[in-house]
Amino acid sequence: MTIAEALKEASQILQAAGVAESRREAGSLLSFVIAKDRTFLISHAGDELDESSVDRFREAVERRAAGEPLQYISGVQDFFGREFRVTTDVLIPRPETELLVEAALELVGGREAAPFICDVGTGSGCIAVTLLCEMLAARAVAVDKSPAALEIAKLNAGELSVADRAVFLISDCFESLDSREYQFDLIASNPPYVSADALVGLQREVRDHEPLVALSPGPDGLSVIRRLLIEAPAFLKQNGHLIMEIGFDQGEKVQSMVDAGVWRLLELRPDLQGIPRIVVLQKR
Ligand SMILES: C[S@@+](CC[C@H](N)C(=O)[O-])C[C@H]1O[C@@H](n2cnc3c(N)ncnc32)[C@H](O)[C@@H]1O
Repeated sequence: MTIAEALKEASQILQAAGVAESRREAGSLLSFVIAKDRTFLISHAGDELDESSVDRFREAVERRAAGEPLQYISGVQDFFGREFRVTTDVLIPRPETELLVEAALELVGGREAAPFICDVGTGSGCIAVTLLCEMLAARAVAVDKSPAALEIAKLNAGELSVADRAVFLISDCFESLDSREYQFDLIASNPPYVSADALVGLQREVRDHEPLVALSPGPDGLSVIRRLLIEAPAFLKQNGHLIMEIGFDQGEKVQSMVDAGVWRLLELRPDLQGIPRIVVLQKR
């Protein structure tokens, strides 16, 4: 079977299974299986694939047709220009979260800055690890209530050479941290924020494959955000910042939850669709 024939067969299977952009997804899967980029697939369309590649490709296509996200099959996702390992124990890093990283970098400074950062709900570690990669003297504490997720975050910190500046702790929000020991310049979080009712409406790739603990904190979707607003001040230096990603419909609600005696609401930054998604607060 040639590359072109394999791609044709796969895109038909994916299309029949309701996978959008089936041709592009077939290309991504084959690139991953034979470890060649997409340009190679086009310029070598007539090349014969060996039997083992065909078998592995068909297996990957079957998983994708069953709704498994591409990133869990390939085991990687790009985030802020770097490759992060992902498994079904962690959320697949999203482009919205790159906006949070961008906003955090604007707040705490450039490459020479040395902020002490906490990432609450670190998952793959994409926020904490990226901030450490971007600021060479920064240090971070990355917490998650999922021990399995923390293992992936540690792996990513190791592969991206920042593990010596990071501490990983199993913690339900700040429960395992002592505020006399930990005083941060910046607390960043992409918390679980999908309400229980909204879970059913998610794409099957998300709902059936990404970890529930990463998606939803319970009925109204706001319980972790609420806890961050209440608990973070004790762990922040004066004038320190809390930066959070929120759900597409939570802007007004979150704004009404901000205690103006505790926080200065600096910004509600919109995502690429113009929806307020990144809340930037400063402790008074
Ligand atoms: C939306 S995911 C974000 C993962 C990663 N930071 C990112 O942006 O891709 C939320 C993460 O928070 C963790 N989490 C959920 N509830 C938590 C809690 N109460 N305390 C600490 N971590 C929590 C989940 O295990 C998950 O890894």
